[in-house]
Amino acid sequence: MSVRSSGSRALLLADAAKEFAADVQYYLTLHPRQLPSRYLYDALGSALFDAICRLPWYGITRAEARLLETHGPDVFDRLERVSTIVELGSGDGEKLRVLVQSGASHARPLTIHFVDVSSAALTASARTLSELDEVAIVLHETTYEAGLEELAEQPRTAGRTLAVFLGSNIGNFDAPGADEFLRAIRRGLLPGDGLLLGADLVKPERALRLAYDDPLGVTAAFNRNLLVRINRELGGDFDVDAFGHRAVWNEAASRVEMHLVAQRAQRVRIPAAELEVSFDQGERIWTESSYKYEPKQIVAMLESAGFQCAAQWIDAVDRFALTLVEAV
Ligand code: AVJ
Repeated sequence: MSVRSSGSRALLLADAAKEFAADVQYYLTLHPRQLPSRYLYDALGSALFDAICRLPWYGITRAEARLLETHGPDVFDRLERVSTIVELGSGDGEKLRVLVQSGASHARPLTIHFVDVSSAALTASARTLSELDEVAIVLHETTYEAGLEELAEQPRTAGRTLAVFLGSNIGNFDAPGADEFLRAIRRGLLPGDGLLLGADLVKPERALRLAYDDPLGVTAAFNRNLLVRINRELGGDFDVDAFGHRAVWNEAASRVEMHLVAQRAQRVRIPAAELEVSFDQGERIWTESSYKYEPKQIVAMLESAGFQCAAQWIDAVDRFALTLVEAV
């Protein structure tokens, strides 16, 4: 096993801080007020998300693990001669370990590229896959988009590339954003290459509400931590207690929305974003959208981005889909 780093760091620390300040200034002055969901994942936010994945009411992670366990071998049967895997947003590498082990007889030697903005996630992923034989690991500490561009520039080896985008992270994009992102993935691939996409399905409202507003309050803490982060990194004076967590199922848009709701009228100062915001009582900050799909919709979305469907596996218990497509 070998691990190397791709060298490029698209987001230098100082740039990242400036970008956060600029985004907070821009999004908090929109109506309705918003904050981009990618900022939920600082160190504490990532730990809270890991806890969410263990909650009995949040089935996505377990459903996907079951599907990977059961159908991992099918992935490498449908897509023969895979020599490269690219995982976008690697987490701790555990899902990929399950997948890669199930392809043990076919896909070797194998090069795995991990693309993530979090160096902690990259290190954890490299460690998780480090015991596997005949596997080389390349780490790309950068955004998905920049990672895809780096990969497109790399010399190709014989065999196919399989791109992997799991955890229903696609659900954070609205329809135009998802289309644009899937097309960016397609541009990084050649005809015959594959994409394995994990996406959460529409399910009864009660199940969705419990998944995003759990009785232990972990998701509420995950959401409110965004204000803690703004206070710490941008010198904000949010009274974190004065904001409630709301998760709503927006059926017309087929998405769960997370909001932070001001419990009383208040004024907040965020010096590093050069911002002062007044909130009315009941005013919301929209912090995340998690789109939910019908299985056919997932296939249609992938087909319009330049792929053809090879297989789709559905977890009947938690209503989650793994879709394998081939670039055309
Ligand atoms: C990591 C974006 C897939 O939308 O379900 C979990 C994040 N938000 N609970 C999701 C999340 C609230 C999660 N994704």
